[in-house]
Amino acid sequence: MAFNVAIDGPAGAGKSTIAKKLAKQMGFVYVDTGAMYRTIALRVLELGADGRDEAAVTEACKELDISIRYEKGEQQVYLNGENVTDRIRAEEVGMMASLVSSYAAVREKLTQLQQKMAEKQDVVMDGRDIGTAVLPRAQVKVYLTADAEVRAMRRYAELQARGEMCDMEAIKADILRRDSQDMNRAISPLKKAPDAIEVDCSHMTIDEVVSVVVKQIMLRR
Ligand code: C5P
Repeated sequence: MAFNVAIDGPAGAGKSTIAKKLAKQMGFVYVDTGAMYRTIALRVLELGADGRDEAAVTEACKELDISIRYEKGEQQVYLNGENVTDRIRAEEVGMMASLVSSYAAVREKLTQLQQKMAEKQDVVMDGRDIGTAVLPRAQVKVYLTADAEVRAMRRYAELQARGEMCDMEAIKADILRRDSQDMNRAISPLKKAPDAIEVDCSHMTIDEVVSVVVKQIMLRR
């Protein structure tokens, strides 16, 4: 049976940084599920559709082909044949993702894809509902959190490094709004699975967090 590690938590907690490093160290495949929600969001934005219109988003999902490929060990996301890995990182795409991810058709489509990916290979999968809904039988579950201030600062640094114009207060407001949407939606809201270990990484280094998770993996392998 494949070994599955689920990492969930609010926006900007550092899930992808930790998951990527952990996957590399353990020889597991890293699956970034947020990227998949962002891809649907990008499609909605491209179509000029109203993200608040569930029927329109559901319709947009029907003619949408998302494929995940690994090139030089890095996850690449393709939308209808086009590599959109970089384009989905924009702040407006993240906000739209948080909106459309509340719809049943969107969640069903992506949950199936994610479960398939974790069936036959060892994965570190990060997102919002991995430990609770996508991989409820994952051998290791982590709920990664950090203070909102710290998360906003990290996201600010990330956007700046990519040369994007950004405003610290606006980023913090976006993060809080996204958390609130993700935690309060009806289907698969963000919450800690009862059997997940909670790690507050506000004052921890990346390596410290990775080593906490590696210990959990070693205990269960
Ligand atoms: O993690 P990331 O910021 O890329 O996720 C973008 C959005 O996608 C989240 O705010 C959330 O609404 C949605 N998402 C989700 N379930 C997941 C992963 C992401 O609903 N497993």
